[in-house]
Amino acid sequence: MTAKPRPQVDYDVHELIQKRWSPRAFSTQPLTEEEIMTLFEAARWAASSGNEQPWRFIYATQAQAERFQKLLACLNEGNQVWAKAAPVLILTLVKTHSTRSGRPNRYAWHDLGLAIGNLTLQASALDLYVHQMGGFSAEKARETFALPADIEPVTVIAVGRLGDPEMLPADLRARELALQQRKPLAELILN
Ligand SMILES: Cc1cc2nc3c(=O)[nH]c(=O)nc-3n(C[C@H](O)[C@H](O)[C@H](O)COP(=O)(O)O)c2cc1C
Repeated sequence: MTAKPRPQVDYDVHELIQKRWSPRAFSTQPLTEEEIMTLFEAARWAASSGNEQPWRFIYATQAQAERFQKLLACLNEGNQVWAKAAPVLILTLVKTHSTRSGRPNRYAWHDLGLAIGNLTLQASALDLYVHQMGGFSAEKARETFALPADIEPVTVIAVGRLGDPEMLPADLRARELALQQRKPLAELILN
């Protein structure tokens, strides 16, 4: 199995950060219940504005075939091609309004991102990998899972162990093995 080349970091950040990337080829090996719950536990302990904890999750494993297919069907075709083989799919959602005040919580999406950041690093620590997707129909997800009005779908994420890039169509295989690209720090830190 060809290994993904690892990029050269400018500063020596933690190996769990250096190790992380978003694969499309996943091993069919299922995640254990312990692994899945450990990922959600990591998400649970993220910081959030007013401790609102606005993140919500709906997940399906391959063993939950009907539920998995329902979640998979929400994805764009381009994502379905590879995500169908992932052992777990997670629909991430936010509670759009504050439980305390009832007002819109404009930090909800920010805080979900923090929770997914935690989940992703915990995945790295367990030798698991996460691929987040914005390419899905939020309307379809809302209908499929009968979501209440104040719960909004944000992404679907695939989680699993690394698989063999050979299982992918040629165009995706090339992307799978490409070096990750990043803007230079000087472009990100504004004066
Ligand atoms: C919110 C969000 C939406 C994304 N949507 C998709 C998607 O629909 N399909 C896909 O293949 N990758 C998607 N990605 C993955 C990004 O393309 C990927 O993270 C980026 O190219 C950097 O690559 P890396 O994660 O391997 O470092 C998404 C990532 C995020 C955070």
